[in-house]
Amino acid sequence: MDVETGISVTQHDLLAARPWIGTLWLTMSGTPPNAQIITVLDALFPSGATTAMLAAGGVVTAPAPEELAFTKGFQGKRLAEFGLGRASARCALQRLGQPAVGIPVGRNREPLWPPGIVGSITHADNCAAAVVGLKPTFTALGLDLEPAEPLEASLWERISRPAELQRLGGALVTPGLGVRLIFSAKESVYKALWPLTKQFLDFHDLQTWFDAESGCFSVTFSGKTGDADEFTGLEGRFLLADGLIATGVSLRNHS
Ligand SMILES: CC(C)(COP(=O)(O)OP(=O)(O)OC[C@H]1O[C@@H](n2cnc3c(N)ncnc32)[C@H](O)[C@@H]1OP(=O)(O)O)[C@@H](O)C(=O)NCCC(=O)NCCS
Repeated sequence: MDVETGISVTQHDLLAARPWIGTLWLTMSGTPPNAQIITVLDALFPSGATTAMLAAGGVVTAPAPEELAFTKGFQGKRLAEFGLGRASARCALQRLGQPAVGIPVGRNREPLWPPGIVGSITHADNCAAAVVGLKPTFTALGLDLEPAEPLEASLWERISRPAELQRLGGALVTPGLGVRLIFSAKESVYKALWPLTKQFLDFHDLQTWFDAESGCFSVTFSGKTGDADEFTGLEGRFLLADGLIATGVSLRNHS
């Protein structure tokens, strides 16, 4: 730990590699930044994909120069979560051995990764996380974090079909938490596939089938998702820990 800045050594190495990140760490409350990179979400993905999760801890990470054009008007919570998501993404890129570059924003809010990279960003209360992988090993990656709190019953029907909830069973989670898990899985799939398809998906356009034993889920498509066949290799994994639900999906290139 650097006594003056309170930044952990690992983080400090990242800052040294990319000096402009260092200059953009601002404290909100006077508390020194104490950024610790959490890598537990690696378990959601096959080897080769790298993740990074950062806790907010009263720290605001300002956008990189390449991102500033997209953050005009962002304030408070939105600016903080955007910055922390991008900081997580840069940490994940560094773990992959890639430069910690700025990540602009696409027309539908999707992150625009550097050439040769696929990835995904998510935020939850007080933390953010990202996953990245190299093309062509990975075709798509999706990541989502949600609070491990039951989703209100009025939303269950919109998010899931009774069969999905039934397959999840009562052993792992209560129905309300189960629908939250299904919600997270579908958000992960949406974020993974959007860059490939540019197609909006509704919750009922896909079904997620969980296996509590293995911590995996599979995905099937219905409705308007015409090209779904090429996505049958989507692999999903989930974690429930520390008050958070985390889901990850990956599509590997097997050719
Ligand atoms: C984009 C969306 C998936 C974000 O999910 P969320 O759980 O609310 O929020 P998260 O914090 O987990 O993720 C937000 C991040 O997702 C990423 N994201 C946003 N739109 C995206 C898209 N079209 N494709 C890929 N990633 C996207 C961004 O990095 C964003 O963070 P940023 O704006 O700070 O960069 C959601 O808001 C949305 O637009 N959904 C519409 C489609 C949908 O939900 N269909 C049903 C599921 S199939």
